[in-house]
Amino acid sequence: MKNKIRHLIAALAMVLPFAATPALASEGGPKLDKAPIDIQDTESLQRGAQIFVNNCLSCHSASMMRYNRLQDIGLSEEQIKQNLLPEGAKIGDQMNIAMSKNDGKNWFGATPPDLSLIARSRGADYLYSYLRGFYRDPTRPTGWNNRVFDKVGMPNIFWEWQGDQELKTVKNAEGHEEHVLELVKGGTLTKLENGKAHTAEFDKRMADLTNFLVFMGEPAAVKRQQIGYVVLMFLGLLLFPLVYFLKKEYWRDVH
Ligand code: HEC
Repeated sequence: MKNKIRHLIAALAMVLPFAATPALASEGGPKLDKAPIDIQDTESLQRGAQIFVNNCLSCHSASMMRYNRLQDIGLSEEQIKQNLLPEGAKIGDQMNIAMSKNDGKNWFGATPPDLSLIARSRGADYLYSYLRGFYRDPTRPTGWNNRVFDKVGMPNIFWEWQGDQELKTVKNAEGHEEHVLELVKGGTLTKLENGKAHTAEFDKRMADLTNFLVFMGEPAAVKRQQIGYVVLMFLGLLLFPLVYFLKKEYWRDVH
């Protein structure tokens, strides 16, 4: 019996350090806000798709995404045609940009990247922080800079919704300097009231947009996650009796 317990402890000791390792990815760089997203929330994905098609495809492409794929987020072919398809495009077309790559480089000093897989390379929290991270900076050609992407070439396309932010340096609880954004002028989706910023409505739209970018990076994930829950439930049902009998076996000698 003693041996069995020793084995069990040895096995646990091997597994536990992995379980307890915290995510290291965000250390060092600017602090990222947690993106409140859910790829099973089709209404959020639909709102995100609308924002994306209306605001991003003028500069960016999403060439791995086709318009008819939006049926995966609960839109009908008719809805896609009426609300999202640009003039002259067909439902089976890829999401291509209106301008040429060179124009982008000439106008902004950098080519706007294809956004199909941006959520995979950058992560949802980065995108959510980036989209809400633009602030006024008169030293930049566009007049804007970004808290998580210093000297970004992209202009702040949501300035009318968000209003104006400025970057302030403050001391945090441990006495370290920290850069934080402060709303200095309300937009159509934010409000400044007695010095307090209300940004919930704008944040929600950026969460919807981030949700859509995540979906686009892995369109099959929505279905796979649903299958995953079923598999986990099945495994749970299967494992429960196994674990139960194992417990009985271990404790048999003790009682
Ligand atoms: C007016 C043109 C323009 C529009 C419209 C635009 N972008 Fe950009 N975007 C750019 C440019 C230019 C860059 C490259 C910036 C650089 O490398 O400095 C960029 C870069 C990015 C990046 C990359 C950031 C990184 O870390 O590499 C993301 C993400 C992004 N844009 C998202 C969006 C989304 C989402 C929309 C729609 C809501 C959008 N952009 C609309 C011009 C645009």
